[in-house]
Amino acid sequence: MMRRIAVANQKGGCGKTTTAVSLALCLHEMSNRVLLVDMDPQGSSTQSLHPDTDSLEHTVYDLLVDSDSVPVDSVKQKIGENLDILPAGVVLSTAEQMLAGRDGREARLKRVIDRVSGDYDFVIIDSPPNVGLLTFNALLAANEIIIPVDPSLFSLQGVGRVVEAIDLIRNVNGHHAEYRVLATMYDSRTRISREILSTLKRRFGDSCFRTVIRSNITLKEATGFGVPITCYRGSRGFYDYRSVANEILGNEPTQKDIEVEAAIDFLAPRRIGGGVLFSYLGNDAEVIAIEGDFNSWDRSSDVLLDVDGRGLWQRVIPLRRGTHNYRFVVDGKPMVDPNNPETTELPGKGQVSVVNL
Ligand SMILES: Nc1ncnc2c1ncn2[C@@H]1O[C@H](COP(=O)(O)OP(=O)(O)O)[C@@H](O)[C@H]1O
Ligand SMILES: [Mg+2]
Repeated sequence: MMRRIAVANQKGGCGKTTTAVSLALCLHEMSNRVLLVDMDPQGSSTQSLHPDTDSLEHTVYDLLVDSDSVPVDSVKQKIGENLDILPAGVVLSTAEQMLAGRDGREARLKRVIDRVSGDYDFVIIDSPPNVGLLTFNALLAANEIIIPVDPSLFSLQGVGRVVEAIDLIRNVNGHHAEYRVLATMYDSRTRISREILSTLKRRFGDSCFRTVIRSNITLKEATGFGVPITCYRGSRGFYDYRSVANEILGNEPTQKDIEVEAAIDFLAPRRIGGGVLFSYLGNDAEVIAIEGDFNSWDRSSDVLLDVDGRGLWQRVIPLRRGTHNYRFVVDGKPMVDPNNPETTELPGKGQVSVVNL
């Protein structure tokens, strides 16, 4: 069966085009027949694979506006054996006006894709940075949606907009699509990267790809300039997208440990103002306290708060400079901080965690 995947997020610059192009290339490299559809009037996907855009006689615009009389074959461009693109140009930005008032205008692309059903294993659709008619066409033509999220709050908010659009399409058109969130441009050195990733994992759980796309200079240079994929085949960016392709194919992600690394960084005790923020992730706990030299090992004096109602427990404790020993008490059971590798043995107490200020 031909799988139809749209890449969408209303935020610009979150990695939609890079994701669509890289996935098309990776899936193609893994012996699949792939059609990439560019639904963004900016035509970045088109330019990155088919630099000679001026020579294009027909684009996806012709198929949308005049879908029944224009053959798909006259529009699609061959990029490689079993790899084609339906290119876009600026004229696509007028599609919304051209189709205004016409029946079934959100289902135009779906009808085009239905016509090539069976010719490909995957159709990957890139979409523009807004949730308008073109994005609705992309969502309605797809059964699977990938929502890339770069480390920014706007991008995170964009997820909500796409999910609303997917719900709307289900209610109005009776069309069902599954979505999955993909963290992009991840840089473990920045706190915003770790916080956004951690939020995505908690909020979306299994609807989040396990693979994380790391920030990578080769990806930045390769897309948008028609640089052939062979130039970045050995890069980390390509390695990450290959891991996403594996997940799409139902295999284990080939990338390892980034999520764990990020979560540990994010949850480890860290300085905030005049104190230290302690965190513990525990969904099914009832009461979590912290005991240490700072409160005479009195587990009744400082409890953590479930700050997001989903099991992220935190508390800021004012601490003087120096070394402090502590441990969590989870439902009455003492334990070391699982996200802090520093521990020591205390007489009469056993293993405890250590924080240095
Ligand atoms: N993982 C990455 N690391 C570094 N730069 C990236 C990465 N992914 C995308 N970029 C760059 O960020 C910019 C925006 O990405 P793009 O895929 O065009 O986003 P969108 O299609 O959502 O607007 C581009 O310059 C692209 O090359
Ligand atoms: Mg784009």
